[in-house]
Amino acid sequence: MSIAVFASGSGSNFQALVKESRRREWPMPIRLLVCDKPGAKVLKRAVELEIPAICANPKQFADKQAFEGFLLRKLTQYGIEWIVLAGYMRLIGPTLLEAYPQRIVNIHPSLLPAFPGKDAVQQAIATGVKISGVTVHFVDAGIDTGPIIAQVPVTVEERESVESLAEKIHQAEHRLYPEVVYRLITKADRTD
Ligand code: GRF
Repeated sequence: MSIAVFASGSGSNFQALVKESRRREWPMPIRLLVCDKPGAKVLKRAVELEIPAICANPKQFADKQAFEGFLLRKLTQYGIEWIVLAGYMRLIGPTLLEAYPQRIVNIHPSLLPAFPGKDAVQQAIATGVKISGVTVHFVDAGIDTGPIIAQVPVTVEERESVESLAEKIHQAEHRLYPEVVYRLITKADRTD
C-alpha cells in the first residue's frame, strides 16, 4: 500500500512530502507522482527524488472518464491507497472519487471557505484580510469544498506583496501537509 501525489506545477509540496516521508520512515511510502502538465518542474523533482512519475495529458483522452480510467489502472498497479493533491490544477471526477472515498486530500493556500479556486493568495491581498493561511481538506466533487481536516493561519502584514505572502504560505504548507498526511495514514493503519 502506498501514496500517490498529483501535481501540475512546481512541486515544492511534493518535495516536502517525499523528504519528510523518508526522514520519518512513513509506514506507507510515496510511490508515484502523477502529473497532467508535460514539462512541469515537478517532473524534474521526481527524477531527483527517484520517484516514478506518470505524465498524462488529459487532452489526449476522449474525456475525463477515459483519462481517470487510465490513471486508475496505473494507481492500482502501484498499489496506491491514498491520493495527495499538491498543486494539481484539475477537478477530480467521479471515477477517482468513487475508487478513493475519503482517501483523496488537497492543500489550498487560504483559510477555506475563504478564497476557493485559483489565485487564492492574490484574492487575500486584494480583499485586504489581515489573516490568511493554509487548509488541508478531503476532496469532493466541488472546487475546494470538501470537509476540512486542518488549517493554519498566516499573518498578512501591512503592504504585504503577493510574492511574500505566497512565500510565507508555502513555508506553512511544507510544515503542515506532511504532518497531516502522516496523521491520516497512521490513523488509517490503525483502524483498517
Ligand atoms: C500550493 O500553494 C497549494 O496550496 C496549491 O498549489 C500550490 C502548489 O505549490 N494547491 P507547489 O507546486 O507545491 O510549489
